[in-house]
Amino acid sequence: MDQGEISAGAAAMWAALCARRGGVGTPLPHADGAQAAMLAALLGPLTVPPMAPDGVWVTAHLAQSLDGRIATMGGVSQWISDRADIIHTHRLRALHHAIIVGAGTVAADDPQLTTREVHGESPVRVVLDTERRLPPGRRVFEGGVPTLLVVAADVPGDERHGAAEVVALPRNAQGGLDLAQLLQRLRMRGLTHVFVEGGGVTVGRFLAAGLLDRLHIVVAPLLLGSGLPSLVLPEAMKPEDGVRAPVRTFGLGADTLFDLALARARPACAA
Ligand SMILES: NC(=O)c1ccc[n+]([C@@H]2O[C@H](COP(=O)([O-])OP(=O)(O)OC[C@H]3O[C@@H](n4cnc5c(N)ncnc54)[C@H](OP(=O)(O)O)[C@@H]3O)[C@@H](O)[C@H]2O)c1
Repeated sequence: MDQGEISAGAAAMWAALCARRGGVGTPLPHADGAQAAMLAALLGPLTVPPMAPDGVWVTAHLAQSLDGRIATMGGVSQWISDRADIIHTHRLRALHHAIIVGAGTVAADDPQLTTREVHGESPVRVVLDTERRLPPGRRVFEGGVPTLLVVAADVPGDERHGAAEVVALPRNAQGGLDLAQLLQRLRMRGLTHVFVEGGGVTVGRFLAAGLLDRLHIVVAPLLLGSGLPSLVLPEAMKPEDGVRAPVRTFGLGADTLFDLALARARPACAA
């Protein structure tokens, strides 16, 4: 395959992804040759996702050290992974309708969750804060991009939180939010492609509920020896209680990306 064919294939892939977002004219981001081929291979499966019966596609991403930490004990995660992964994360934001983060991430990082590093529309921001402990002054609640704050239905408060709309959800059996219901609420708003960006507790809760279609884990050649854990799941009694999924690997700058085709698999330890 020569460079022209590679670029044409990647451009077609990108056009298909953008069409799925309803976005028009989003150009292929700074990529040609080998990089475009890698993008086509990595992101191609997102162009024709086999949709689960609930009609929602869910991708998650975590960047971790080689010894499985996503941040220091004090919550500093910037930056565990290479700049290439920052760009990759912003591409994933651009390719989904909604981006979900947990309250811990907003508290620690005060993120904007926009697509400022790539071409493409910023997704609707969805913050999970069961007990509504986050103050309205966080940047994600300042407006500019539509934002939902998702809280437990039994928690009192106004219908707005800063510029964000408050969405009340029932609790699940563990007292957290009912994530299957959350996906249905998002689908009813036309948000059928959802990106879960962290942290480890939130990604773990989606995995434990069997609600992840695809998981990108980016492993940096970094040893921290302490810090916040990556995925958090109920305790496994034996190795087969975990999830084994088909995997592909990609080099991403100095890091390695593991692309896990979870297809809504649920770990036995969470059943
Ligand atoms: N390296 C990376 O890829 C990456 C990505 C994102 C964040 N981070 C880092 O990770 C740290 C935060 O991660 P984390 O794992 O501690 O926290 P988190 O996943 O961001 O947030 C966890 C909190 O969010 C709420 N929450 C999430 N899912 C919920 C659900 N289904 N139901 C109810 N509440 C839910 C809960 O708040 P309540 O306790 O109020 O119920 C929970 O304690 C930060 O230091 C951040 O910098 C790293």
